[in-house]
Amino acid sequence: MCAHILTTAAWPYANGPRHIGHVSGFGVPSDVFARYMRMCGHDVLFVSGTDEHGTAIQVKADSEGLTPQGTADKYHGIIVDDLQGLGLTYDLYTRTTTQNHERVTQEVFSSLYRNGYIIEQTLLGAISPSTGRTLADRYIEGTCPICGYDGARGDQCDECGNQLDPIDLINPHSRIDGEVPEFVETTHFFLDLPAFKDQLTAWLDSRVDWRPNVLKFSHNFVKELKPRAITRDLDWGVPIPLDGWRDEPMKRIYVWFDAVIGYLSASIEWARRVGRPEAWREWWTGDNAASRYFMGKDNIVFHTVIWPAMLLGTNGAASLGGTPSLDFGVLDLPTEIVSSEFLTMKGSKVASSRGASIFVGDFLREFGPDALRYYIAVAGPENQDTDFTWDEFIRRNNNELANEWGNLVNRSISMANKAHGAVPAPGELQPIDTELLEASALGFKTVGDLLGACKLKNAISEAMRVVGLANQYLSATEPWKLKDDPLRRDTILFVTLQVVSDVNTLLTPFLPHSCQKVYEMLGGEGIWAAQPEIRYVNEGDNQPDYPVLTGDYKTAKAVWESRPVTPGTPLDKPIPLFPKLPDELAETGPEWAPIQ
Ligand code: MF3
Ligand code: ZN
Repeated sequence: MCAHILTTAAWPYANGPRHIGHVSGFGVPSDVFARYMRMCGHDVLFVSGTDEHGTAIQVKADSEGLTPQGTADKYHGIIVDDLQGLGLTYDLYTRTTTQNHERVTQEVFSSLYRNGYIIEQTLLGAISPSTGRTLADRYIEGTCPICGYDGARGDQCDECGNQLDPIDLINPHSRIDGEVPEFVETTHFFLDLPAFKDQLTAWLDSRVDWRPNVLKFSHNFVKELKPRAITRDLDWGVPIPLDGWRDEPMKRIYVWFDAVIGYLSASIEWARRVGRPEAWREWWTGDNAASRYFMGKDNIVFHTVIWPAMLLGTNGAASLGGTPSLDFGVLDLPTEIVSSEFLTMKGSKVASSRGASIFVGDFLREFGPDALRYYIAVAGPENQDTDFTWDEFIRRNNNELANEWGNLVNRSISMANKAHGAVPAPGELQPIDTELLEASALGFKTVGDLLGACKLKNAISEAMRVVGLANQYLSATEPWKLKDDPLRRDTILFVTLQVVSDVNTLLTPFLPHSCQKVYEMLGGEGIWAAQPEIRYVNEGDNQPDYPVLTGDYKTAKAVWESRPVTPGTPLDKPIPLFPKLPDELAETGPEWAPIQ
């Protein structure tokens, strides 16, 4: 049974290069899942892109002396390089500043408006007197009216934890340039969230198998829904598709509203680019479609409440009724929202804004993609905030990847190469042999079930447990001492090579680069685990080219089942898989991220 599995990853902001904390939330988990689902024969559509609108990008552009589009172009390019280097197999990784995205965003907005789910309200908003732009709540600082703390932000006070409105702050000023904001009457559009309460509650009640952190947070949130502003006083973003507003220079759709629509617009762009413009529907509607959305925990509410509400309203399927968008028809709500916690550094979030950053690009240049993918899968913040330390990274790389797995591959292939230059033919199997073979065969079920349930940490630990069993088997049987009993030696080597091949398949979603090499070392030919490529595309002859990630993943040979190794297959001398990293690194860190 082949299902259509929509896999999505949260859209990184184009306001700087991404650090390893970001890709531990949205990046590696989504790719491991997508690769596994493809290996099972499902039809995966994996989409995302760069989130390029909003105040954060505008602020960055101002600080770099660039236009917002210039800043978006710059960081979109860098992020595309990083994600390609990490081997994330997006069917399409695009961006939000495309015409396609604008059109799809406006169609969602218009459908919601037509169905009555968007309301207009006038309020007092903070603007910068010099630019006329909204000063976002979090960019305003002042004294907390409740506890007197003088570093409170417009949205909340970190000292006493109370939620605030910027207008409540004493001595409010801009965190960007110290300017005192002006509070002016301004009209905004709001998503009428209370109109979705019953449908959202019923839907969340039916989502029993989600991670508890996601469910708990979302249930709490829907208890108290208020209308939520979905426009801003800003000149950078998607224009409002309503008469009288379309040409307003300082009114744009809020970045979070347009960003989540990216999942839909990217699917539509993908379908057009592969020449089957209607194909996206197979992943967005019907019984044979399911979806998994991957992200860090700061994104949960937008995916478990706001985006589902937007979909319900576009479908005309919440309290106020309505009719589905003619363009889209009825769209499915997410099957599962998969959220990680934060990767921290010495107890604080690894965030570029706070200076403590380990950038993906630097990491890949020095250590390559699979070492990072392994670390994130086995030691990442899947269920709780987790501190990244160089010590643990070096330890896991050296003890687990290099000593356990790398060594098993190396030992088994080089012994077989020395004995025969090929996979040896086995004699009769003994119980110790069949036991190991059964354990690795069972891995397809146990590791597979865990991956299907997005339990990456347990899944990779289970695969590594089989590696451990194979190493114990070699220590127990000592084939290197069996020169006088070549048949028994060959049997042991054959069994070990079969297990190496099986475990290599189990590890392929996690370690696709090195698993390709092991596949080749075992005599395999062609592409085992496909990698994404950067392509330059445009939206018409006179439109600018931009890079996207895409790839031909269907031709890859990796399948989630045991591949019998064939006696007589030539084996070369193995190449080392994972270099051991110097122990000192655990204390110093690399030059580009020294330990302070
Ligand atoms: N840009 C946001 C962040 O980095 C994530 C946007 S996810 C989307 O936190 F779905 F809204 F696109
Ligand atoms: Zn306070």
